[in-house]
Amino acid sequence: MNVLVVGNGAREHAIAWKLSQSPSVCHIYVAPGNAGTHFIATNVPIGAEDIAALIDFASNNAIDLTVVGPEAPLAAGIVDSFTASGLPAFGPSQAAARIEGSKSFAKTLMADCSIPTAASETFTDFEQASAYLATCSIPIVIKADGLAAGKGVTVAQTREQAQDAIRESMLDRAFGDAGDHVLIEECLEGQEVSVFAFVDGEYVSPMVAACDYKRVGDDDIGPNTGGMGSFSPPLPHHWNADIEALVRASIMEPVTKGLIDIGCPYRGILYLGMMHTEEGPKVVEFNCRLGDPETQVILPRLKSDLAENLHATAHGQLRDTQIEWDDRACVGVVAASGGYPAAYSTGYPIEGITEIDYEAIVFHAGTKLQDDEIVTAGGRVLTVSALGDTHEQARVRAYDGINRITFKDGFHRTDIAKH
Ligand code: AMP
Ligand code: GLY
Repeated sequence: MNVLVVGNGAREHAIAWKLSQSPSVCHIYVAPGNAGTHFIATNVPIGAEDIAALIDFASNNAIDLTVVGPEAPLAAGIVDSFTASGLPAFGPSQAAARIEGSKSFAKTLMADCSIPTAASETFTDFEQASAYLATCSIPIVIKADGLAAGKGVTVAQTREQAQDAIRESMLDRAFGDAGDHVLIEECLEGQEVSVFAFVDGEYVSPMVAACDYKRVGDDDIGPNTGGMGSFSPPLPHHWNADIEALVRASIMEPVTKGLIDIGCPYRGILYLGMMHTEEGPKVVEFNCRLGDPETQVILPRLKSDLAENLHATAHGQLRDTQIEWDDRACVGVVAASGGYPAAYSTGYPIEGITEIDYEAIVFHAGTKLQDDEIVTAGGRVLTVSALGDTHEQARVRAYDGINRITFKDGFHRTDIAKH
């Protein structure tokens, strides 16, 4: 197979890295990729959302499977467009991707399928939303309905904060059309767990779970980011065979069936953002793709052949393929540019990547090659991941790796997987 991976983050580097281990994979292209994917694949200078150019490239280069990393092209219908051109692509259709692209769609679906989730109301009118807010207890969660590049959710600790979030979304239109509809949602308490399954339309594969760290600073201090680190599996009291069985029966299988019933079967990776509450697992959100930085800690644990697994998922043959997860733990730590998630500078040389011990893996995100040198090119620069027999062993290895990598003003959290 010739494979095209769409995206440029550490998630896509990890996908390309895992695919490069598949005997059935002949050549890997990444569009647009980064300095890390350059060394294991051919980078193609096409943006992840330029669907027409990606179709041209796939047609002209005998691509047998296109794997889409980020949500935006999925929500824009990239898989439908590829399919219409006779090109196989991995990921849900535009209709099924609404599970992430429209939070009100996801809420209605969950209500129809009796799936446990936070209570929520959707509003299109600012005054009505504000009047409803006045009746709610605090903390409360305000969400823009559509895709907002990870910035559309406010977990408000005060009424003023909640009111500001509604105003920002509905009146200031900070997220454009994505924020014209707003959800006001009950705040769930508990440990958040990211759960992933391959779904081939009908069948839900064995799941894998991870925890990520969203705040920029140690002890969860500071603003939200795209994710500063992750570990997999979660601790046993938040993820075990009983919880997996419950999640399968009460969430993953009902939602898969619900999507069939409304005429848009889901094929791809289904990502459940789950809150492990005192009342049991509840849905925070669904995403239509792999997570970042979770991918960097789950793919090192995938023992089966990723290319085969993706191919079987896209062709509705998941029952006949084996998806197997390693029992070992994996920890990933993100190195970011000084200032991130606010303004930061780029273009700084990155030292030490070749000093990494064989036990750790470096997945690039915001990096690029400049005159044969790897330099920073984004907020999240790279993830160092490591496997270990225990979380502690994996953590020590990942930190040993990240401490060898330096670039001007770079930083990382020091408490990832420090339980
Ligand atoms: P989302 O953009 O839907 O991924 O939400 C971003 C983050 O906000 C989630 O990962 C949670 O940490 C938090 N969040 C979203 N909804 C809720 C909720 N109902 N209760 C508590 N936290 C939430
Ligand atoms: N780790 C959060 C996300 O990928 O959306």
